[in-house]
Order: sequence, then C-alpha cells, then structure tokens
Amino acid sequence: MRSIIVTCALPYANGEIHLGHVASTYLPADIFVRYLRLKGERVVFSCATDDFGTPILIKAEEEGKTPEEYVAYWHERDREDFERFGISFDIFYRTSSEENIKLAQYFFLKLYERNYIYKKEVSQLYCPNCRKFLPDRYVKGTCPYCNAPGQYGDGCEACGKTFSPDELIDASCSICGAKPIYRTSEHFIFKLSEFSERLREWLLGNENLQEDVKNYVLRWIKEGLKDWDITRDIAWGVPIPLPSCEGKVLYGWFDNHIGYISTTIKYVEEEYGVDGKEFWNSSEIYHFIGKDIVYHHYLFLPSMRMGVGEYKLPDFIPTRGHLLLHKHKFSKSRGWYISLRRFMEEFPPDYLRFYLTLITHYDQSDINFELEDFRDKINGELVSNLGNFIHRALTFVWNNFQGRVPSPNGYDGTDLEFKRELEGLGRSVGGEIERNHMDRALRAILDFSKKCNQYFQSKEPWKDKAGSATCINLCSAAVWALSIALEPFMPQSANELSKILSAKIERRWDLLDSPPKLDGLRIGRPSILFRKVDEEKIERMISELGI
Ligand code: MF3
Ligand code: ZN
Repeated sequence: MRSIIVTCALPYANGEIHLGHVASTYLPADIFVRYLRLKGERVVFSCATDDFGTPILIKAEEEGKTPEEYVAYWHERDREDFERFGISFDIFYRTSSEENIKLAQYFFLKLYERNYIYKKEVSQLYCPNCRKFLPDRYVKGTCPYCNAPGQYGDGCEACGKTFSPDELIDASCSICGAKPIYRTSEHFIFKLSEFSERLREWLLGNENLQEDVKNYVLRWIKEGLKDWDITRDIAWGVPIPLPSCEGKVLYGWFDNHIGYISTTIKYVEEEYGVDGKEFWNSSEIYHFIGKDIVYHHYLFLPSMRMGVGEYKLPDFIPTRGHLLLHKHKFSKSRGWYISLRRFMEEFPPDYLRFYLTLITHYDQSDINFELEDFRDKINGELVSNLGNFIHRALTFVWNNFQGRVPSPNGYDGTDLEFKRELEGLGRSVGGEIERNHMDRALRAILDFSKKCNQYFQSKEPWKDKAGSATCINLCSAAVWALSIALEPFMPQSANELSKILSAKIERRWDLLDSPPKLDGLRIGRPSILFRKVDEEKIERMISELGI
C-alpha cells in the first residue's frame, strides 16, 4: 500500500502564526493531505513547534519565564490557531521532545564518527559580566554594512545583510549592556562542503523538485559551500552528546528538521504499531516550505541525511513565495502584519482559505494580499458564483419538489453535455492538486460552478417545474460533487453542505467520476453558506494597519 508523509516547516514557538505562514506552507499542505485522505491513501501529516534557539531563550528570559514554560505557551496557541483554521495535522509535536533530542544526538554521533563533523577552536564574544558566551541575538551593535544602530548579531533588519556577532561595530551584551570580550570556545563544524557533488547529483536527478529553486541552489553549490558551525554555547538546545561538552548545545537548524522524522515516527509507531523507520523509508516524502528556508532544506537537510545514510531524503519539497501585505513585506515590528488569529476574529476561516488559495502560485513569486481584493474575490466569486448556484439548486428542490431530489425525465443535448462536465470535475481538480497547483484546482471548481449557473439559467426550470426534473436532478448531483471537491479547500463549508444533502453516501473522491444516483434523496432545509463580506470589517482591518 502506498504511504505518504507530509510535513510543514515547523513554526518557531516564538510568536503568532500569521497569514504569511499559512499561505505558503500550511494551507497548501493541508489541501493536499485532505485530498489524499479522500482518495483513500494512507497519509501522515506531521508538524511540531521549533522550540530551541537563541531568540527563544532571550525572549523567555525577558518575560521571566523558563524556556520550557515559554515554548509550552506558544505551542498551545499555535495548536489552537491551526485547529480553528482547519489545518488537520495527525500529530503536532515539539522539537524539544525526548524523541527528537535522542534522534538529533544520534545524527550528531553518526556524523561525528564518520568524520563529517570536526572540532575547531572558535573565538567568540563573551560577556564578562553575565559570564556567558554571546551568540547571535545576545549581541547588539551597529551594522557593519549600512551603519544602522541597534542591530542584533545575526543580521541587520535595516539592510537585510546577515553576518556574525563579531562583525558588529560597538558590540554590547544585549542582556546587560556590558562590552564583550573575546574568548575561545571549542565548536563542532559540519563539513557541508564535502557533500557538494552528492547534493548536485541529487538535485539534478530529482525530477520532482521545482526547476526555479533547483537552479538557484545549484548556483550556490557552484559558488562553493561553506562548512557549518553547529554549536552554540547556551543553555537551551540539544546537549552535545560527548564528554566535556557541558553548556554546549546543537544549533537549532541542526535538530529542527530532524523533528520531521522523530514526530512522524512517534505517530506511526503509536498509531499503526509499525516500525517507524521502515515506514519513513518506504513512504513518499513531502516537505512543504516557504522560500526563506530553501538553503536549509535543499542543502543542510539532505546532506545530513546522506551523511547518516539511514533515513530517506524527501521526494518533494514544495516551495512557495513570501506573502506581501498590500505589496509590502510583512513586518511585525512595524505593525505591518495580520495574525491568523486576528483575521479569524472577523472572517470565517474558509473565506481566508479560499482567498489565499486563489492568490498563491506553485512557484517562488511573491503572493500579494490586499483586503479590498479579498472582499472582491469573496463577494464576486465565492458568493455570487459558487454560493449562488448551490443555494439556487437546493432551494429549488426544497420549494418545488418537497425537499426530495427528483428522478430525471429524459436527457437532451444540453443535459448530456452538463453531465459530462460533472463527471470530469474530479479528474480536472484532482490532477491539479496532484501537481501541487492548488490555485488552478480551485479555479477549476469555480469554472465548473460557473457552468452550473449557466446550465441552470439556460434550462429555466422555474417555467416548467415538473418538466425540469432532469435539470434539478443533475444540479443536485453537481451540488453533491461540489461538497466533495470543496472539502480540501473549505472543509467547514463542505461539511455543512454535506449535512444539508443529508446523504448517507460515501464521501470518496473517486466517486466524482461516476456520481451516485440521488433520485428520491431527502435534503435538509437549505441555509445560506456564504455571505458577502461586511464593508465595515474591511475598513476596520485597514485602519488597524494604519492606511
Ligand atoms: N522554524 C523555522 C522557521 O520558521 C522552520 C523550521 S523547518 C525545519 O524558519 F525544517 F527545520 F523543521
Ligand atoms: Zn551581559
């Protein structure tokens, strides 16, 4: 039996899930998984919070919490947001789990044994006052490239350049403000450069990876890969499992993607009672990500798996662009930002899923979110096209056939053509989903619904109610088909719709090719599924952004 593993980039347990995360990563993955489930495939959808790292430790210290308390809080928040938005993970775990710590240490030891990791004395900034090494965000100072003051040691927010803490001008400890000194520390370095040739071969040989990403990763390899410092001298992370390494932990990007494996294995061992490693190695593997973490997923992740040689590499790494808000980059610090939670306070989750799906392409181009465009697409396409057809068809059954789907009474050319369209829906939508073009798949549903409206209109059933049985029978079948085809995209609405149809009919994608007979089926009282977006709400959101 085919088995499929789908993962999404693990969110840092450090702040709210926002619209950018869901557009590029969680939503496309969820659509894919829901579709596979309707196809009857065995699929595991796993995710976890990314718990380790300097920024999280600093934030916890600022809030006077232990890092464990701090990440537990965000873990719960994220879980609630995802659930409300309909992201249907089978498991949502954490990178700070025992399982992940153990597996990350296993990876480390294997790579170390095989000489893919070596030791090196590294000169590091150290705060004599706090008696701590100061990696990444523990140092503040002036950007060496653009002279912007108040920048952290891992990069400049003003000019976007990344650098190491010792390059900052006038560096100071971000906790106490003292001037740091240099101290040497023993670090572990991963020989990324040694994998250049194998990575190149893997990229060139894998037809599933997107060409545009592949090309720029190949360019990085050509320019030469640098070895990678995987040690941090802080108290929050996976402990380095070697003697006399107290106080040293692995860099978060060493252990976080191992969370894909440890989380999935935990789930399948507990849920299916199978050997997790075997399951991993015999599955098709998908890692959904946003383009900001291409480097990590196309270089670090595969080379670490190659080096250990026991866990299968991904087959697909669907990668999508950044979300822009009214054409500008999201920025939490500047308030140019909408959280998922905030948006769901104003609008139903399915409206957001609908809109984000339509504007997100399967490539690296940026995705532009505009509130007015959101309103127009909901009012113009969801309500006037899709909602309108569903409501018209169902109320016709309710008012004119006592709530029972009539049996057909002969087919003319128009009926037969519409029937063919109906029977083709599953293949056209499913094909696009399988190719990962979720926007085109939803477009195909909207095109179909437009044809439904045209068919209904051309048949004028209101003129000869009894004679309209075939039309209403086929339109009811079309509503049933929509209730399945929409499930991956708008699960809550699809669910409501299937309740109205009160069909005890199996919900399987493959039934779309030859829809079951609905003759005589008693439906529930139709309710309005989609309503126009309230202008006031749009204005409120716009004014919150300060535009
Ligand atoms: N937490 C990272 C981010 O938000 C993503 C981690 S993905 C994983 O950028 F592969 F490392 F798990
Ligand atoms: Zn200090």
